Amino acid sequence: MFQARTSDTPRDKATLYSDLKSDLGGLLTDERDAIANAANLSALLFTTLPDLNWAGFYFMRNAAKGNLGGTRELVLGPFQGKPACVRIAVGRGVCGTAVERRQSVLVEDVHAFPGHIACDAASRSELVVPLILDGQVLGVIDLDSPSPARFDAQDQAGIEALAELFVTGSDWPL
Ligand code: SME
Repeated sequence: MFQARTSDTPRDKATLYSDLKSDLGGLLTDERDAIANAANLSALLFTTLPDLNWAGFYFMRNAAKGNLGGTRELVLGPFQGKPACVRIAVGRGVCGTAVERRQSVLVEDVHAFPGHIACDAASRSELVVPLILDGQVLGVIDLDSPSPARFDAQDQAGIEALAELFVTGSDWPL
């Protein structure tokens, strides 16, 4: 049985992310299904990282409308937290901006981010990390917190390392 450490266990951030890497490594052992691995990683993040109100995935999928040109957009994947908006266009909100820039976006105050999409009114800060394989953006990991400036460069580096582990340890396309 998977023995989860929880956010009740006090750890510094370096230890926290190092533990998360080994926990994710365990979850990915013998399993390459991307949806199953995303579901377990969102649960691992939500139950391990303190002060979150949402943790989950959006994946690049076919757009619902006007898809004659093969338009792709972000579609909600496995997550923990309140129900969220399902589709986000590239370039929209924090998630779509991370896809467009192909870079992580760390937002200390979501109210000051133009175009921020408020799925949960409680969210005050956000970290979005793109999932990239062979130069192709597959989706994003999105973390929300009810506290302003909850995330820092150490969180960004830690989540980026977990994103890489998840991407290389899973099969694509979905
Ligand atoms: N705030 C995100 C939308 C997704 S929810 O936070 C789960 C954004 O601006 O893209």
